[in-house]
Amino acid sequence: MTTTTGEYPMQKWVFEDAAGRFDIDLGDSNMLPGRLDQLSVPPGLELDYGHDRGIGALRDRVADLYGGDSASVLITQGAQQALYLVYASLLSPGAQVIVYRPGWQQSWDITADLGCRVDCAPYRDDLTFDVEAAAALAGPGLRLIVANSPCNPTGRRIADSDLKGLLALAERHDAYLLLDEEYALDLRDSPTVGSDRVISVSSLSKVYGFPGLRVGWLYGPPEVVEGCARRKFLSTIANSVLCETLACDVLDHRDHYLRRYTEITRQGLDLVREFARRNADAVELVEPEDTPFAWLRLTTGEQPLALCRRVLDAGVLLMPGETLGASDGFRICFARDPGAMTEGLRRLEPLLRPTPQVPPSTGPHGGRNSNLPNGVL
Ligand SMILES: Cc1ncc(COP(=O)(O)O)c(C=O)c1O
Repeated sequence: MTTTTGEYPMQKWVFEDAAGRFDIDLGDSNMLPGRLDQLSVPPGLELDYGHDRGIGALRDRVADLYGGDSASVLITQGAQQALYLVYASLLSPGAQVIVYRPGWQQSWDITADLGCRVDCAPYRDDLTFDVEAAAALAGPGLRLIVANSPCNPTGRRIADSDLKGLLALAERHDAYLLLDEEYALDLRDSPTVGSDRVISVSSLSKVYGFPGLRVGWLYGPPEVVEGCARRKFLSTIANSVLCETLACDVLDHRDHYLRRYTEITRQGLDLVREFARRNADAVELVEPEDTPFAWLRLTTGEQPLALCRRVLDAGVLLMPGETLGASDGFRICFARDPGAMTEGLRRLEPLLRPTPQVPPSTGPHGGRNSNLPNGVL
């Protein structure tokens, strides 16, 4: 996978460039969003302040996801705030952080802003996490290793042996391993439970399809939870009690949401596979491992951002690799209704290859098309 220095901010792509310009969203990485009328809260719910760590009922439910203890849980505004709080509370200027890139931009952006020495480890050619490369980068000031599994944007999960390798590396350096498990379907396997070195972060945004609730969490060692809770209190006091109560309802129907996720993503992935087969001269599909999106390598030689801009003009949102630290592909979300998926792919297909550059005419009209009125190029 080719990484890029020609990075492009995802915030700009999503909230400025693309805002209001698409009717088919294959760019965002969450499951089809759920609706308020699918959820319920007690009508008499008191809208008081909540709790700095999240209401007890929600912390219990999150702890159950891990098969762990609610004292290890901190509820946050999405996984984004959980990650932010971990960075802000564990890191100080000069500390070393190792992140895998391509990945979630926040991991190298905010850590650099905090004055850390940020080293980006690569994946191996088969997109597995290169533990040896991370070990070679590790120095005496190593404080944090960040790994996102299943990975955005590759869609691949970390192998058990590589996970063990990263954990051993963190332990050797008295550092922490931050596991961004935003897309994990099952957190019972998370190595955070019982570990004093691993922090796991996830949310209701992706698999469950409720990014608008802005409910996420971290699960980790007591001193990390404590430090993050302090910073959360100092910035936002608590999450919304309403959203946290709605989140309880989501988790009470977890099996329903997981079934819905599996069904929708199965259909969508079939469509992407067919699309990749039909367009094998232009894209190469990396088979996803339970993510709602896939990574499509672009083999036309074009920059992904240029392709995604052209496709946006046709009303379809994709996620260019440049927003995730990669220069050789784009991410496509397939957790969508089959109708929208089919239409999105139909519009994308004729735009996949860069339009041939027409050389300027050397004819008697000096390059101007004589069939067009003057002034029209
Ligand atoms: C890997 C990863 N981590 C964290 C987040 C943050 O999402 P949220 O705050 O909605 O949970 C995202 C969102 O796309 C993500 O892809």
